[in-house]
Amino acid sequence: MFGSLLLAGSRSPLARRAVSGFPLTRKVVERFVAGESPDDAVTATRRLTGAGLAVTIDHLGEEVRDTQATIDAVKAYVTLLGALRPLELGRRAEVSVKLSALGQALDAPMALDNARRICEAARDCGSTVTLDMEDHTTVDSTLEILRALREDFPETGVAIQAYLFRSEGDCRDLAGSRVRLVKGAYSEPATVAYQKKAHVDMAYVRCLKILMEGTGYPMVATHDDRLIAITELLADRNDRDRDSYEYQMLYGIRTDKQEALAGAGSRIRVYVPYGDDWYGYFMRRLAERPANVGFFLRSLRGK
Ligand code: FDA
Repeated sequence: MFGSLLLAGSRSPLARRAVSGFPLTRKVVERFVAGESPDDAVTATRRLTGAGLAVTIDHLGEEVRDTQATIDAVKAYVTLLGALRPLELGRRAEVSVKLSALGQALDAPMALDNARRICEAARDCGSTVTLDMEDHTTVDSTLEILRALREDFPETGVAIQAYLFRSEGDCRDLAGSRVRLVKGAYSEPATVAYQKKAHVDMAYVRCLKILMEGTGYPMVATHDDRLIAITELLADRNDRDRDSYEYQMLYGIRTDKQEALAGAGSRIRVYVPYGDDWYGYFMRRLAERPANVGFFLRSLRGK
């Protein structure tokens, strides 16, 4: 219930102004966001890759309303990828892209062209792109754009949200590709998505089975210990070696677990968001865990 309120707030301009206006908010945001500039993202990348983790970097921004904002978003990714190139990290540093930041709602062919430019820049530095998945109204369009991108950039990945009823079918269609499986972070109606946590978790396992039995590269994006244990069982059952799938977690969340997985020889990639448009991302992280709201409120009171 509280989580739903926070998710509603994540799309409210009024709440955006109120939360962003608190001077102390920034300190709390830093727990989940690597910084505002490409240099901040590169610094976090150096630190994480130096510790044996891989990264996927997200330039924060979503639901843009004009063409200029989409041009700025492409520029931000191209600049970032240019700054990563000398590090020669290849696929250890990829980028995550929200199509709504590239104009998906304004003009889908324009969003495809924009995404292509980012894929080209990623390929130039030996890296690749994964498309984030946003609310359920965007899934068909995102998968269509993915199909078009994969003609030239077959390594392009996509996130699939286990909470959507349709996702088992999407996993079957994509079982030969790079797929990031997530539980799902948006407020969705009961007509399209499981509402109870236990049902979402069971759906996650069904999707995971399909991906682990397939020939693609599953990217198991969760902080949930039970799902990580199930992934290990499925890897064993399907004779998958540790290079044939990876775990993914969010920047600043369960860093001890991230390091433990890397230390145990698993592939683990950290999703590193940077930029000044952190509001929607930040609110979704608060919605996932009530304890984060307590942490936020205590910081606002200066405690
Ligand atoms: P769950 O929420 O059940 O959490 C399991 C445990 O992890 C918790 O008990 C807690 O210990 C810890 N935890 C989880 N979230 C936390 C938080 N915010 N703060 C502190 N601890 C926390 N969603 C989407 O709709 N589209 C997308 O493209 C993506 N992309 C994406 C990439 C990556 C790399 C990750 C890890 C996640 C996403 N997500 C996403 C978000 C995803 O849908 C989901 O909301 C979160 O991962 C939380 O779900 P968990 O699987 O971690 O389980």
